[in-house]
Amino acid sequence: MSGQLMPCNPQEIGALFLFEKLTPEQLGRLCGAGRVERFEPGPVYTEGDPATCFYVMVEGTVVLSRRVGGDDVEVNRTSQRGVYSGAWQAYLGDRVPQVYNSSMRVTEPTRFFVLPAETFAEVIREWFPMALHLLEGLFFGQKSTELAVNQRERLLALGSLSAGLTHELNNPAAAAVRATATLRERVGKMRHKLAIIAQGSYSPEVMANLIDIQERTAERVAKAPTLSPLEASDREDAVTDWLDDHDIQDGWRIAPTFVQAGLDEDWLDQVAAAVDEEILPSAIGWLNYTVETELLMDEINDSTTRISHLVDAAKQYSQLDRAPFRNADVHELLDSTLMMLSAKIGPQIKVVREYDRTLPEIPAYPAELNQVWTNLIDNAVSAIDSAGGEGTLTVRTARDHDRLLVEFRDTGVGIPAEHRGRIFDPFFTTKPVGEGTGLGLDISWRIVVNKHHGTIQVESEPGDTRIQVLLPLTSAEEESA
Ligand SMILES: Nc1ncnc2c1ncn2[C@@H]1O[C@H](COP(=O)(O)OP(=O)(O)OP(=O)(O)O)[C@@H](O)[C@H]1O
Ligand SMILES: [Mg+2]
Repeated sequence: MSGQLMPCNPQEIGALFLFEKLTPEQLGRLCGAGRVERFEPGPVYTEGDPATCFYVMVEGTVVLSRRVGGDDVEVNRTSQRGVYSGAWQAYLGDRVPQVYNSSMRVTEPTRFFVLPAETFAEVIREWFPMALHLLEGLFFGQKSTELAVNQRERLLALGSLSAGLTHELNNPAAAAVRATATLRERVGKMRHKLAIIAQGSYSPEVMANLIDIQERTAERVAKAPTLSPLEASDREDAVTDWLDDHDIQDGWRIAPTFVQAGLDEDWLDQVAAAVDEEILPSAIGWLNYTVETELLMDEINDSTTRISHLVDAAKQYSQLDRAPFRNADVHELLDSTLMMLSAKIGPQIKVVREYDRTLPEIPAYPAELNQVWTNLIDNAVSAIDSAGGEGTLTVRTARDHDRLLVEFRDTGVGIPAEHRGRIFDPFFTTKPVGEGTGLGLDISWRIVVNKHHGTIQVESEPGDTRIQVLLPLTSAEEESA
């Protein structure tokens, strides 16, 4: 894309604020190496193309835009004389990629002073060596801070994710492994029982009867009610008595399993009625294995279901396979974050959810919002710990005019008035060295305010701190559309 060449007037160029105080010779050199170009409405250069020229607007209107995801987002629109853009990092040489980091177009016929990138870099180095050093320091200093912050951001997410997850996964996984081992042993014993049956001590009718009872037993196990410890112990006593009365050995050992499986004396009476007296003990033993294997399979089912729920929550939390920007239900995000952090929150902190489920989904960067919740919950937990360790964390959602409110309220130590103005500053922390970096709230602020155009408010007194995140219900783009 190039414009129509026009004469370069050193005086006109010298009047632009950027070239203030340049000598006539210097202005002459600029005009000699550069050129003035006039562009009709339309594109001037495109983001990502090699940055070959430095543009200074003499008159007209420019629009700068950047590609975010699949969209072009306008970042600046101005008619201010002297604004510049293009290869303005040329003086950093090959230490940074020399490509346009935005796209520029003009919305009316617009005149630019255009300088080739090499000439721009040359004159800066030659005419302003000290400014160049300062700029370099600023640029690379900021880059390394940004890098450190991003790194920490990712580590934080990863750290809380894996710490929470490994802890939470451990219990059901261990339970499933234990249950599988016991199941293997029980199935082995059943094979052994089968061998005895095969020796022909039972008639085909009795076998058919037993198998029928076995089927009905398995069905009962699936529907077993949950009993209170007192009810369970009463029933165990009754079942033990029944077994003793019928001369079945080790009744006290079998009774708890039967009760857990929902079997009672009525059912035992039915079994007794269906088989001859002499084979009753074997029949009960046989059914005991059936019940045990059913219960073990239930346990394996429960633990593996819990594992898969946890993995779902981890996926929801990390948003690994989801679009970075989409409509999201904040409650799902909050729940997955609370699930990930449940080990960190611990049993001594009560978590109360006051969700307004009628709230709509909002346009958001869900993985980043999860990072915000993580930081705020982390802070609430620390504050409660500092106040003795026991307390309540209330997570509330509500509508606040055209915004959605997510409030984290804790019963911790509170934020002293003299700290309130500084808690969002990067590196401000009251935690001991090595415990906090003071970046949690800084990161959260940038995610909520810069990326979501929302805001964070703080209200605090000892024992009652509320951090309120307000997010727009619709995106700015949708509103203007
Ligand atoms: N809910 C809260 N109750 C009391 N004080 C808080 C609360 N949230 C934040 N603060 C104060 O604000 C400071 C800054 O918080 P921030 O999350 O930015 O950093 P940090 O928690 O100290 O460290 P990091 O989050 O990096 O581990 C905390 O050190 C603490 O003094
Ligand atoms: Mg923190």
